[in-house]
Amino acid sequence: MEQRHRPAAAADDTTKRRTTKNKSFKDVENYEVLVLEKNCGCKFKSLRYLLIAIVSATFLTLLTPTLYERQLQSSSRYVDVDWIWDKTSADPRYVSSADVQWADVYTAIEDLSAGNQELKIGLLNFNSTEYGSWSRILPESHVSIVRLEHAKDSITWPKLYPEWIDEEEESEIPSCPSFPEPNVRRGAWFDVVAVKLPCTRVAGWSRDVARLHLQLSAAKLAVTSSRGNRKVHVLFVTDCFPIPNLFPCKNLVKHEGNAWLYRPDLKAVREKLRLPVGSCELAIPLKAKARLFSVDRRREAYATILHSASEYVCGAITAAQSIRQAGSTRDLVILVDNTISDHHRRGLEAAGWKVRIIERIRNPKAERDAYNEWNYSKFRLWQLTDYDKIIFIDADLLILRNVDFLFAMPEITATGNNATLFNSGVMVIEPSNCTFQLLMEHINEITSYNGGDQGYLNEIFTWWHRIPKHMNFLKHFWEGDSEEAKARACCGTGARPRTSRRATPRRRRLRR
Ligand SMILES: *[C@@H]1O[C@H](CO)[C@@H](O)[C@H](O)[C@H]1NC(C)=O
Ligand SMILES: *[C@@H]1O[C@H](CO)[C@@H](O)[C@H](O)[C@H]1NC(C)=O
Ligand SMILES: *[C@@H]1O[C@H](CO)[C@@H](O)[C@H](O)[C@H]1NC(C)=O
Ligand SMILES: *[C@@H]1O[C@H](CO)[C@@H](O)[C@H](O)[C@H]1NC(C)=O
Repeated sequence: MEQRHRPAAAADDTTKRRTTKNKSFKDVENYEVLVLEKNCGCKFKSLRYLLIAIVSATFLTLLTPTLYERQLQSSSRYVDVDWIWDKTSADPRYVSSADVQWADVYTAIEDLSAGNQELKIGLLNFNSTEYGSWSRILPESHVSIVRLEHAKDSITWPKLYPEWIDEEEESEIPSCPSFPEPNVRRGAWFDVVAVKLPCTRVAGWSRDVARLHLQLSAAKLAVTSSRGNRKVHVLFVTDCFPIPNLFPCKNLVKHEGNAWLYRPDLKAVREKLRLPVGSCELAIPLKAKARLFSVDRRREAYATILHSASEYVCGAITAAQSIRQAGSTRDLVILVDNTISDHHRRGLEAAGWKVRIIERIRNPKAERDAYNEWNYSKFRLWQLTDYDKIIFIDADLLILRNVDFLFAMPEITATGNNATLFNSGVMVIEPSNCTFQLLMEHINEITSYNGGDQGYLNEIFTWWHRIPKHMNFLKHFWEGDSEEAKARACCGTGARPRTSRRATPRRRRLRR
């Protein structure tokens, strides 16, 4: 029986809106005037008088802060260039120590303004000094600040990724806390959304609420900016890589120093923004009919891997049979290394697997001959680039009913494991050579808590989507089977499954 504990704080405290939100805006400046001035060039006398009037009005309102605050409250929904920084109580969660290299920022986006085209740039999480620099390096462009209320302090990473949620909705309907939305005028749009992201760079830096909030907000702004053929870019200034499954590296256009320029696939981003903000809710509600559909079946496959031992060969053969019996016609791809004999490979092919030979990947932090020494070989799944989507299943799993609907889910969709982590025994991934590179690049730096791929992947993909554990579509080949059933299920090629402890991995509990 697995441990069940309910989240301490009820969800309702997160649904309460912050009522004191405008209290903190003590330091108010209105630079909209300056922006206007820059753009119009002040050629017209009447306009100049108008500006003078606006400037003096601004001055007056600054002298009467209460009146100004009231105006702000009533109009805040429509303000995009409102120039409000709360200098006295900067929220440490949102403060980024990233050093903005203006030359790099300029290099990253200079091509976008080719032909001296005026760019509309929306800034998130930059301060007033930095706004000045933006305006200086891009004098032709219209730079504006997007206001973003900060997430409530009560939203922590474990609140977004609770170990347990009531997946069957037996006593409650799980619900995620909500993040404040970026505050822009209706119809406002940008060519570039620029965001300064915090990153502590200490272990676990990628489980950071403010970092997630800022990136989701950038994604929203990109989506709301898109119309027709308009190209929208997102520029991050950050010392650590952005969320790799929200801003995939295949959409990375330029990377200079700590400036990362993306041209997001807005259709994919829009889909991803419909997902719950964390694993605090199921990404597929149990009772909802499959609302999603997939694009190209030929570019979707089930995959598994056999590395360093042939003990799972029979399991893999049975897994293939179970997928076919469940009615799926998608490709079945199995990655095997050279420890899997020709004899076994032929058996796998006969069962329907397309066999791909891989070079295994060693975990540099594992001990020699340790049972998990080669588990990083799983990263090779990301090299299956003739597919857009892969449902990975561990070789010892049985599929009890058709799970093709999971192809409609984005990377990473998985079941929960313990703490804030997902279980890497079944997961939806999106192959991409550069994601594979990303996984390889950090191999010496990131420590996996269990020395296996699960711990490692959970450090890279901290933003994942939960599917229920008890949908009854999966079953361990070994667990619960009688000896005869195992023998019957097995291929009879002489490679009987070993029933050692390692053949029943303890880290996964997919049945109750
Ligand atoms: C803005 O941030 C930069 C770099 O972190 C810092 O040097 C500068 O003092 C900040 N400006 C304000 C007004 O806080
Ligand atoms: C749960 O996850 C944490 C990582 O947050 C890990 O250190 C710990 O060992 C795990 N516990 C169990 C019981 O697997
Ligand atoms: C990924 O890299 C492999 C070679 O390692 C290459 O054959 C394949 O075409 C690449 N895929 C894409 C989509 O570029
Ligand atoms: C590593 O891979 C082996 C073989 O596939 C598996 O039995 C084991 O549970 C994995 N270990 C971890 C920690 O992921």
